[in-house]
Amino acid sequence: MPQSSTMNFLHILSTVLFIVSFHPFTRAKPNTYIIHMDPSAMPKAFSSHHSWYFSMLSSISDTSEAASASSTVTSKHLYTYTHSINGFSATLTLSKLESLKKSFGYLSFTRDRPLTVHTTHTSQFLGLNSVSGAWTAPNYGEDVIIGIVDSGIWPESESYSDEGMAQVPTRWKGKCESGTNFSSSFCNKKLIGARFYNKGLLSSHPKLTIPMNSPRDINGHGTHTSSIAAGNSAKGASYFGYASGTANGMAPRAHIAMYKVVWRYGTYTSDVLAAIDQAIQDGVDILSLSLGLSVDNNVLDDDPIAVATFAAMEKGIFIAASAGNDGPLYWSLVNGAPWMLTVAAGSIDREFDGILTLGNGVQITFESLYPGNFSRNQMPLVVMDECASVEELRQVRNNIIVCKDHLSINDQVENAESAMVSAAVFISNYSYLSELYTRSSFPAAFIGLDDGQTVIDYIKQNSDPRGRFQFRKTRIGTKPAPKVDAYSSRGPFLSCPNVLKPDILAPGSLVLASWSPVSEVTKVGSHPSFSKFNILSGTSMAAPHAAGVAALVKRAHPDWSPAAIRSAIMTTANPFDNNLSPIKDVSNFNQPASPLDIGAGHINPIKALDPGLVYDAKPQDYMKLLCAMNYTSKKIRMFTKLSHDCMNRSLDLNYPAFIAFFNDDGLSTSADKFEQEFQRTVTNVGKGGMAYTAKVTGMDGIKVMVEPPKLVFKQKYEKQSYKLRLEGPKLLKKDVMFGALSWRDDAGKYMVTSPIMATTITSQ
Ligand SMILES: *[C@@H]1O[C@H](CO)[C@@H](O)[C@H](O)[C@H]1NC(C)=O
Ligand SMILES: *[C@@H]1O[C@H](CO)[C@@H](O)[C@H](O)[C@H]1NC(C)=O
Ligand SMILES: *[C@@H]1O[C@H](CO)[C@@H](O)[C@H](O)[C@H]1NC(C)=O
Ligand SMILES: *[C@@H]1O[C@H](CO)[C@@H](O)[C@H](O)[C@H]1NC(C)=O
Ligand SMILES: *[C@@H]1O[C@H](CO)[C@@H](O)[C@H](O)[C@H]1NC(C)=O
Repeated sequence: MPQSSTMNFLHILSTVLFIVSFHPFTRAKPNTYIIHMDPSAMPKAFSSHHSWYFSMLSSISDTSEAASASSTVTSKHLYTYTHSINGFSATLTLSKLESLKKSFGYLSFTRDRPLTVHTTHTSQFLGLNSVSGAWTAPNYGEDVIIGIVDSGIWPESESYSDEGMAQVPTRWKGKCESGTNFSSSFCNKKLIGARFYNKGLLSSHPKLTIPMNSPRDINGHGTHTSSIAAGNSAKGASYFGYASGTANGMAPRAHIAMYKVVWRYGTYTSDVLAAIDQAIQDGVDILSLSLGLSVDNNVLDDDPIAVATFAAMEKGIFIAASAGNDGPLYWSLVNGAPWMLTVAAGSIDREFDGILTLGNGVQITFESLYPGNFSRNQMPLVVMDECASVEELRQVRNNIIVCKDHLSINDQVENAESAMVSAAVFISNYSYLSELYTRSSFPAAFIGLDDGQTVIDYIKQNSDPRGRFQFRKTRIGTKPAPKVDAYSSRGPFLSCPNVLKPDILAPGSLVLASWSPVSEVTKVGSHPSFSKFNILSGTSMAAPHAAGVAALVKRAHPDWSPAAIRSAIMTTANPFDNNLSPIKDVSNFNQPASPLDIGAGHINPIKALDPGLVYDAKPQDYMKLLCAMNYTSKKIRMFTKLSHDCMNRSLDLNYPAFIAFFNDDGLSTSADKFEQEFQRTVTNVGKGGMAYTAKVTGMDGIKVMVEPPKLVFKQKYEKQSYKLRLEGPKLLKKDVMFGALSWRDDAGKYMVTSPIMATTITSQ
């Protein structure tokens, strides 16, 4: 897959937002660590784990030579964790950490690390969710509590109105914490919890003062994601006239609990862990996570989010997490722990346009989110070739200037901006460059070579060429949609490749949702502008869509496990776009996307409510997987809290997807054969007396056998097992081959589909 320079640029922008200086290990300088402990090792003298950890911290000595210089630096306890992991976080010198490692009950440590949120602010795609009306049927999502770990919330937004909301569930143990410009009275029947965590941030930046030390969101990201998941109906929503209408969350009757961990100055794992720990204790049903570690830093047992969410899953909490914005290369995915739903981002079927009308009446449509007003009058068009000189541009600034793609387009836009031109037309050959600039601070059209030629020809053939701009055109029902976007991170998941990831594609590009009105959304000329709504793109936007859908399924089936809910979402996903063709991959010349791009396909909430069969998995099944991955018993105890003997091991999780690495040793010849068998168990969640038949599609040249090919269920909740076997040459015709297994019931009501993937790609 090609990785364009555009996408590199996006990547840099999205990570720069939260990059925090990373100090190398130094002996005397304290760092923040997360310490995993064995709770059963607590001496009887202590009344709580908290007091045990405190006493341990105060008793350890600093044995290093540098200690004399730093002896005034006391170890500082940050958080005690009891629900997500067992242990605590603390600021320690390296030598104190060494002493701590000798303490009874110590298991392991990880360094506190910064995370990034998964939004690509500059990436602009087109569209809004056309099926959201059907997702918001009355009562759907009622009583379900969605916990969001993000940048806080703007409680005055209409999305958090509690009109029509049921009472706060009595099982809820969370609370609404007060702080700067945030009172606990801001919570209501919609927003039922709001907390904030920054001890980890402050220990890495001791001199920092935090102006908005409360759950209030001055960034916008958390307001955006939480309103996507469960925002109440907000009438008159629009982004400067674009996408106007009523904004609804996926589960508009679900309750929201916000855990603020994303700060302007950074986001730290110790804070995220504290938030998840509390969310488990508070009693959330669903967790929506739109942040993650960087991909080169993403080992399952060293990722506090993966470890903490294992505990959440054990308590029956469903986790939706963003796959990351580091696509489109393979292995770029994060948040791929097998107990989560990992969500990729796609486009939707609405476009935001501007129109350039030439003096001869010819109209050219281009993508734009330009928010300002523009004269309806015609202006002269002036060709300035590569727009290399700010000085020259300034002399013609009262015209519509036309720039052609020789210089980099970044430079051209910058020059036009510096010269304060009235308007500009940029002609370039990069099909998805326009995404970057649709939010330009001045009226600008980014158009392709063909349209560009039309403009140039018109100018050449006329003595007084003129043009006119119009903005704020919203088009609905554009095709094809969805497509998977280039930025969406791709599988496989490096630290657990045997479970196919991502799981699902959900709307992530150009999503309109509520926003913090004090956070700048764009500039008009040099003036910052603000809005109660914003249009953003990223897997950050996709994850809360999936969390909201999970709330609907949870509401319909309160007793289902997180794995059953995930299975329902995956096996009913739609692999086709609105042209009824396979979903396409923007980054790969619009070729059909593979399961490494979109998982099972595009999320389909209505079908997910009634899937027919589910692939369930219990905590023990994930333990078997961890054992087969050869984790030491110490490491497994980090996840499970209990000692575990690894009697049973299996990499073959009961998952609604299949992935086989054919050329697994990388040394095969064309005569070598590969075969792999998978075992699966499905539970009938439809009515009794159902018979299902297997049908395999795709997998060209690979033999796929399903045994037995027919499953008969006499009763509801009955389980049946089957084997799926792949056989083929180790050297495949293509490095990525895929297809699907569908179980179809005889009456034609259900189709329970799983992606099958055979690949020769390796992570090296
Ligand atoms: C406090 O919140 C209100 C909204 O209730 C907002 O209008 C105001 O600007 C905020 N004040 C500060 C200092 O951020
Ligand atoms: C554009 O015009 C509308 C209506 O005339 C006005 O409400 C809005 O504030 C204007 N926007 C800008 C950015 O000037
Ligand atoms: C535009 O891009 C395409 C595909 O990358 C390339 O084949 C073509 O030569 C380019 N055209 C120009 C005029 O640069
Ligand atoms: C685990 O260890 C066994 C025995 O050494 C080995 O055969 C197997 O490939 C390892 N599994 C993984 C997933 O590394
Ligand atoms: C291991 O698997 C066997 C057979 O499925 C089962 O009976 C046994 O309880 C399992 N043991 C553990 C420790 O999970």
